[in-house]
Amino acid sequence: MKNMKLFSAVFSLFLCIECAFSNESVSMSNKRILPKVERRGGMPLMEALSKRQSIREYDYSKEISEQILAELLWATCGENRADGKRTAGSTLNKQSVSVYAVLEKGIYLYIPEENALKLVLEGDYREKTGMQPFVKDAAVNIVFVGDEKKLGVSNPTDSMLMLGVDAGLMSQNLYLYCASKGLGTVVRGSIDREAFGKLISLESHEKVLLAQTVSWPKE
Ligand SMILES: Cc1cc2nc3c(=O)[nH]c(=O)nc-3n(C[C@H](O)[C@H](O)[C@H](O)COP(=O)(O)O)c2cc1C
Repeated sequence: MKNMKLFSAVFSLFLCIECAFSNESVSMSNKRILPKVERRGGMPLMEALSKRQSIREYDYSKEISEQILAELLWATCGENRADGKRTAGSTLNKQSVSVYAVLEKGIYLYIPEENALKLVLEGDYREKTGMQPFVKDAAVNIVFVGDEKKLGVSNPTDSMLMLGVDAGLMSQNLYLYCASKGLGTVVRGSIDREAFGKLISLESHEKVLLAQTVSWPKE
């Protein structure tokens, strides 16, 4: 028994180390460690800006690889500096907006400091991320959730404004990544905020702000 426990601990450690140096993702209990993100390359910025657009027609037969999932999340709000700051700025650097990835297999919380996804709810809940018909089949639906308590701005109008701007910066990062990769995306205000909040058991200070669909576009 003792040997089994030791074996299991060593095996888990091996998986972690392996994953950190490879492009494979590893699922450990309810955490999915994402592949390492390559920070070079992509389309020149002016070209990506020229191509940025909202796309709502997708090719649902094409999957999004784990590598692209890791990259799109990193582009949205991944850590880009050793001090823990991110690709998107945030009010008072409070990093009060969290990113949930709603995938076919479940709803996951993105953890930038670990380059990982934490399972929140198992199952296909993509259709709960919006009212438009494409959301239920699109490969990825991102949901931006702001935490008023974490932000700590007492005026409620200011608080919602700041959280909205924080989410907007992330959304534009994601738009530019999608433009650069040839992915389709659209940011959406149309999400039943209350219902989605209940689904993932948000507390009253946590607010669903926006959703954003990502999938390969229809040719
Ligand atoms: C805050 C915000 C909310 C939006 N909500 C929706 C939405 O619910 N559904 C949708 O199809 N598009 C939505 N859009 C996308 C806009 O319709 C789109 O950006 C606009 O038509 C301009 O098109 P473009 O993005 O291709 O430049 C939203 C955009 C923003 C900035």
